[in-house]
Amino acid sequence: MQAPEDLKPLLEEILQDALTITDGKVADYIPALAEVDREHCALTVATLDGKITSVGDSTTVYSIQSISKIFGLMMAMERIGDELWQRVQMEPSGQPFNSIVQLEWEKGIPRNPMINAGAILVSDVLVSHYSTSKSALLNMVRSLCNNEGILADSRVHESEKSHGSRNSALAYLMKSFGNINSDVTEVLDHYFWQCSLTLSTEDLARGLAFLANRGVCPRSGEKITSHRDAQRINALLSTSGMYDQSGEFAFTVGLPAKSGVGGGMVAIVPDYGVISAWSPPLNSYGNPARAMAMIRNFANRLGLSVY
Ligand code: DON
Repeated sequence: MQAPEDLKPLLEEILQDALTITDGKVADYIPALAEVDREHCALTVATLDGKITSVGDSTTVYSIQSISKIFGLMMAMERIGDELWQRVQMEPSGQPFNSIVQLEWEKGIPRNPMINAGAILVSDVLVSHYSTSKSALLNMVRSLCNNEGILADSRVHESEKSHGSRNSALAYLMKSFGNINSDVTEVLDHYFWQCSLTLSTEDLARGLAFLANRGVCPRSGEKITSHRDAQRINALLSTSGMYDQSGEFAFTVGLPAKSGVGGGMVAIVPDYGVISAWSPPLNSYGNPARAMAMIRNFANRLGLSVY
């Protein structure tokens, strides 16, 4: 199907279809996330010509959780270049996002930067190389999204900090192998903080458009990252962004994508734009069931697979 001039009726139909999906469970291992209304649902498509089309709760902000791993990774790649790949691999893990077992077998080197261990490693790079890693990341996110109002949610940050035993275990295990340089508490604080950033589907669609545009922000024309690094980030999103469901997502949809346990999800369509969706209930892989269905439906209807 050719993309229609006005995407809104199509997005509305896709959102209504997704609302019929009733399975899934809102994340509660971070207690503050469990308080979110499970019925929120939003879908936004930002195209490289600057158009943003949305349906549902697309201006309501939510905790982007693991989607923040994209921003952290990009900063670490810019800062230390290929040295990063000595400390984290670029392979799918075949394990849940917070799994510990593989990390010990592989001597404290995480499988990829999208699982929690990898993102904690990336947080160590940021804490070690920026005097104020949080404000550096926040300024970058605000500028990419063209929204100075973006904030972290301190309740979610504190809630995750006080229920973060598994992430602490991952960080201390990496430290024991000599793969964390800074103070573990500080590294975890950065990681929990970046997961608690709150953005809307429209913010994220705008903020990640550079990944669909060879590293250049389509709005400002500014080079955010090199074409090569944009390709590399998209490759990691394709192989690891949906965790242990990345293979199925590549098979059925065929786009670089990233989910978060706050129910958010983004998919990058190179040379076209960004699809951004949000609905809190998660499937058994920790991916948002309705958000995934909406992105799959939109991509399939327009034939957007990169393969
Ligand atoms: O560390 C955690 O478990 C969460 N802050 C982030 C996990 C996450 O979003 C996984 N995504 N589907």
